[in-house]
Amino acid sequence: MTTRRKIAAGNWKMNGLQQALTEVEALSAANPAPGCEVIICPPATLLRSMAKRCAEAAINVGGQDCHQNSAGAHTGDISAEMVADTGATHVIVGHSERRETYGETDALVRAKTTAAWGAGLTAIVCIGETLDQRESGATLDIVGGQLAGSIPDGASGENLVVAYEPVWAIGTGKIPTYGEIEEVHDFIRARLVRRFGDTTGNAVRVLYGGSMKPDNAAEIGALSNVDGGLVGGASLKAADFGKIVAGLS
Ligand code: 13P
Repeated sequence: MTTRRKIAAGNWKMNGLQQALTEVEALSAANPAPGCEVIICPPATLLRSMAKRCAEAAINVGGQDCHQNSAGAHTGDISAEMVADTGATHVIVGHSERRETYGETDALVRAKTTAAWGAGLTAIVCIGETLDQRESGATLDIVGGQLAGSIPDGASGENLVVAYEPVWAIGTGKIPTYGEIEEVHDFIRARLVRRFGDTTGNAVRVLYGGSMKPDNAAEIGALSNVDGGLVGGASLKAADFGKIVAGLS
């Protein structure tokens, strides 16, 4: 039986100015020794100062995206090395907002994951179906395809975290039934084991994301093959995120 340490990861998306850094201090004061791994992914502008503030706290810092190339003429982009250079240890890749807004494909997400690994970062690879896809019964096909296409060979329990985020549950207050969440997480686990073998397949953490809140985090975190959460809106305020950290601990 593999024990996987739970993760409470906060994705701040395009939210947070300098003063938001105080939320991290409040979070750390309220949860000085959390029973789960805590990761905060602020906008790129806050990465360096947050990594400095979190150096002494039990909080890891992650970027929200990286370019697939290590350097070059890519105006407005940041490389995985740049993310790592701030002191961050993780980076989200393939979030549905980027897949939708910028047309990011599985192949691109895979290249970004390779770049993240090359910079020594743990990649948090996001996958998930749209409402149309769920309603047409295609959820497992979509999730299976994204999983196969977005993750390069060479995954390990240290360099990869998978986040299952049903697109229709993000920011909507709607979540799948607990049975539906377990069905997808069990399926992802089986696919990871089939591809990477027992040891690695059982070591990779699989997070749920989409309207995770203080009042559902503990129940979702207790479901089969759910190893924590990737939290958007409810990660912005230490008061809420602290409760989620506690719920997942
Ligand atoms: P919400 O928690 O706001 O639904 O966002 C989830 C998400 O997209 C995290 O990456």
